[in-house]
Amino acid sequence: MILSPSLLSADFSCLAEELAALEAAGVTWLHLDVMDGAFVPNITFGPPLIKALRPHSGLFFDVHLMVEEPARYLRDFKEAGADLLVIHAEADRHAQRTLTEIRKLGLKAGLALNPGTDLSVARWLAPDLDLLLLMSVNPGFSGQAFIPQTYEKIRAARALLAEAGAAGALVQVDGGACPENAAALLDAGADVLVSGSAFFGHKPYDARLAAFMKAAEG
Ligand code: DX5
Ligand code: ZN
Repeated sequence: MILSPSLLSADFSCLAEELAALEAAGVTWLHLDVMDGAFVPNITFGPPLIKALRPHSGLFFDVHLMVEEPARYLRDFKEAGADLLVIHAEADRHAQRTLTEIRKLGLKAGLALNPGTDLSVARWLAPDLDLLLLMSVNPGFSGQAFIPQTYEKIRAARALLAEAGAAGALVQVDGGACPENAAALLDAGADVLVSGSAFFGHKPYDARLAAFMKAAEG
């Protein structure tokens, strides 16, 4: 299991220190929630902030683009230091082209689906995916309640990826993940859990990471 803490719940007054503390605790991924105030009703940050953080961190930068027409910004995020770019199927009419372009830039490519979006949109994109992100809350804010039908969706996503010859793609779950549901999420087939409020509210981070990992073992 990979835990990808969401920066949105970190202390914004001292982000470099937060990143150093995550790395010291053994965290390997960092989830960066980019929101444009159009695709979602909230605004967060963009490439300049990611670029400022990059020299302070060796973490794998997992960038979740909650923005309309994300293809406009791929190069900016690459230059900022992203490792993985995840676009929303609902925000891009030409997702196959965008996913291909992300890979051409030398980055990992991911597709995110809102809770109400059917998995079938991923069927013909599966070969172009390194990761499929299933939203388990409606995107826009951290601290929302986990939507339980996500468990069934994870199982169906695993089956779809296997059938499409993309069994190696990771399944990421984002929203409301916590030690209490980690085992069930992993059992359903998730590989990567994003956690905002259930991670950053609980120091020290090494103990919180251990709590997630222990819970994930079931
Ligand atoms: C929601 C974001 C999530 C969020 C997760 O739109 O994409 O990554 O920060 O926060 P929690 O874990 O608190 O639901
Ligand atoms: Zn996210």
